[in-house]
Amino acid sequence: MLGQSESLDVTIVGGGMITNDLLLPSLYHLQRTGIIGKIDVCALSTPPLTALKDNQEFHEAFPGQDFTPYPSLGEAPDETFPELYKEVVAAMAPGNMVVVAMPDNLHFEVVMHALHHDQNVLCVKPLVLKYEQAVEIEKLAAERGRLVGVEYHKRFDRRSLVARRAYALGQFGAFVMGEAKLIEPYYYRFSNFQNWFTCDRTDPFTYIGCHYVDLVYFITGLKPVAVSVYGVKGRFPNGNEAYLWSHGRVTWENGALLSVTNGLGYPDAAAGSNDQGLVMYCEGKDQTGLIFHDDHYRGVAYSNVEGSGPGGSLYNYVSPDFFRLVPWEGPGYRPIGYGYESVEGITRSIHRIENETSGLAPEVALARRRQLISEVDTKGLIATPANSYINELVVEAARASVLQDATPVRIVYGDHPHTQID
Ligand SMILES: NC(=O)c1ccc[n+]([C@@H]2O[C@H](COP(=O)([O-])OP(=O)(O)OC[C@H]3O[C@@H](n4cnc5c(N)ncnc54)[C@H](O)[C@@H]3O)[C@@H](O)[C@H]2O)c1
Repeated sequence: MLGQSESLDVTIVGGGMITNDLLLPSLYHLQRTGIIGKIDVCALSTPPLTALKDNQEFHEAFPGQDFTPYPSLGEAPDETFPELYKEVVAAMAPGNMVVVAMPDNLHFEVVMHALHHDQNVLCVKPLVLKYEQAVEIEKLAAERGRLVGVEYHKRFDRRSLVARRAYALGQFGAFVMGEAKLIEPYYYRFSNFQNWFTCDRTDPFTYIGCHYVDLVYFITGLKPVAVSVYGVKGRFPNGNEAYLWSHGRVTWENGALLSVTNGLGYPDAAAGSNDQGLVMYCEGKDQTGLIFHDDHYRGVAYSNVEGSGPGGSLYNYVSPDFFRLVPWEGPGYRPIGYGYESVEGITRSIHRIENETSGLAPEVALARRRQLISEVDTKGLIATPANSYINELVVEAARASVLQDATPVRIVYGDHPHTQID
């Protein structure tokens, strides 16, 4: 609890893929640095929690470290506990951190619940699916003086940070035409995605296209003003219908266009684990500029003699940039990469804000926390409801568009930003 050990207690709500692949190992490492205290993990039922407990890599990387599971592992695997996270969060001392890592459509209620209980929040992207919900979150967070950080980890990739600075220095000219692509593996279709990645709830543009839309905004500062998304439907193995592929076109305030291709279909047999990248052409004086990010092949390829890549392939492109557990001077292994640095960046900001204000009188502490949070908003490195609401407008527009066969949806700014079909 903060104020005693000066570390943050954490409750992760959601025990699925992103918790396993990124959040829990990042938080375990922060726990051994003293930034994080106790870790609780809530899931809908026990199977994901058992899988996290049994993850051998965690035992090797973080010897002796553990989390408390909710529900407890003695409960029947087929029993569900959709409301349990509410009790666990309500029992936390104020000013700690709730990590929201459940399906997109459930983020809003968990974030609001955490804020009502005076917690800071790290939420996986997209924050919410409606702009008005982001406004509600922003309002409550400001009222309580608690930070909500949206975990858009591509912002912490060094190539994004370098491009952001160079673009601001005018080294490319003005963005005019671009292409972004993120195709997740085919094997995702066999995962828990079957249960929630349905046409009525989400689509590939909303799920992963949002990363690159956010990145173009992060690099250029330009706002998107129109979105059109066409979805290609298919069925998951359990029969649920989903948009398995999507093609989006985003128009920016200066007239620039970004084409966004997404899907759940990168071949399992291909060099994994997915396919992704960004190309941006820019107009300069008497010449054009270019930003080219190959985020798929980052210059490292392994052909294994034992074990295999994520989709079962032996030959793989390996990204040392996103998230890897590597040897270090301390016990086990440590996480490296922009995925870790993103979780660390948000967690350290929350830790710093809470520590700087923990000894102050309540009203003084609240005023100071608000001031520190507005500095984070202004800096614009960590996505917050105040500085990245364009993402909610884009997602809202994309959902309306994809459900109406790619109808163009405009984003109108001003005093009351909103989306609109003409
Ligand atoms: N690149 C990225 O930034 C990235 C990558 C993957 C996922 N995500 C995001 O992370 C979120 C979760 O994705 P995932 O891949 O881990 O999904 P997943 O389906 O693997 O896991 C979802 C988890 O939520 C839990 N859950 C559902 N309802 C719950 C409830 N009422 N109480 C407690 N737990 C509940 C389930 O038990 C499950 O453990 C999504 O919003 C997704 O968009 C982001």
